[in-house]
Amino acid sequence: MDEIVEAVKNADKITVFTGAGTSVESGIAPFRGEDGLWDDFDPQKVASASAFADGPERCWKLFKLQIEESFDAEPHEGHYSLVELEDHGLKSIITQNIDGLHQRAGSKNVLEIHGSLNKLICPSCQKKYDTRDFLDEIKDDRIPTCKCDSFLRPNVVLFGEKLPRNLLDRSWHEVRSCDLLFTLGTSAVVQPAASLPSAAKKAGAEVVEINLEKTPLTDKISDYFLKGKVGEELPKLTACL
Ligand code: APR
Ligand code: ZN
Repeated sequence: MDEIVEAVKNADKITVFTGAGTSVESGIAPFRGEDGLWDDFDPQKVASASAFADGPERCWKLFKLQIEESFDAEPHEGHYSLVELEDHGLKSIITQNIDGLHQRAGSKNVLEIHGSLNKLICPSCQKKYDTRDFLDEIKDDRIPTCKCDSFLRPNVVLFGEKLPRNLLDRSWHEVRSCDLLFTLGTSAVVQPAASLPSAAKKAGAEVVEINLEKTPLTDKISDYFLKGKVGEELPKLTACL
C-alpha cells in the first residue's frame, strides 16, 4: 500500500476505470464471479440488440431487476474515496457501470461508456425519457412505451452494439495521457473496454488493480494488485494521502 500511496503522490494525472465489482458493496449484483447475473440470465437472450428486437418482454425482466437495484442503491465508501482522489490528481472516471453511483457520490468527470439506466430511449424515434418517470410502470411489469407507441429500453450498450464513439475516443485519450491508472472491480473480459488498462500501460502509466480475485490484467498489466473489496481498500489508500 505504501508504494501505491507514493505513486498517487507523484502522479500528475490519475485515471480510474471501474467495473461492476465497484457497485457490489452498494447492493448491485455483478455480471460474473460470485452471485453474477449471468449465472441466472443468458446475456445473448436478455441483453443483446437482437434479443430486444425479438422479445423485449424477456429483456425487460433483466432491465427491471437492474433498474430497481440501481434506484435502491446508495454510493459506498469506495465511491466517496474516488471523489476525494479528485484532490490528488484524479481527472476522470471511465465506468462500465450503468447505475450512476459515481455521479451520485459527487464524482465530476464520469465517462459512462456502457450508457446509463437513468435514461430510457425509443429504438424507433430515438426520443429519450427519464427512467424515474416510469418506475411505477416498471414495478407493475408494464413495459414503458414511447409517444410513438414503440417499447422503450434503457439507454445502455447491449451486446452486439457499438459504444458511443465520442466517449470511447475520450477514454482512449484519458488512459493514454495519465501517469497512474486504477482498474477497480472489473473482470476485464469485455472488449473494447477491457483493452483500456493495457493501453495505459503501453503509454507508460503505472497500473493499480483492486479485485477480489486475479483477472487477465493481474500478472501481465497491473504493477500493483490489491486483493480485496473496492469499498475497503480505497478508503485505506485515501486515508494515507
Ligand atoms: N471489490 C472489488 N472487486 C469486486 C468486488 C468488490 N467488492 N465484488 C466483485 N468484484 C470483482 C469480481 O471479482 C469481478 O472480477 O468485480 C468483477 C466484476 O466483473 P463483471 O461482473 O464481469 O463486471 P464488469 O467487468 O464490469 O463487466 C464488464 O460485461 O456484461 C457486460 O456490460 C456488462 O459492463 C459489463 C461488462
Ligand atoms: Zn418513439
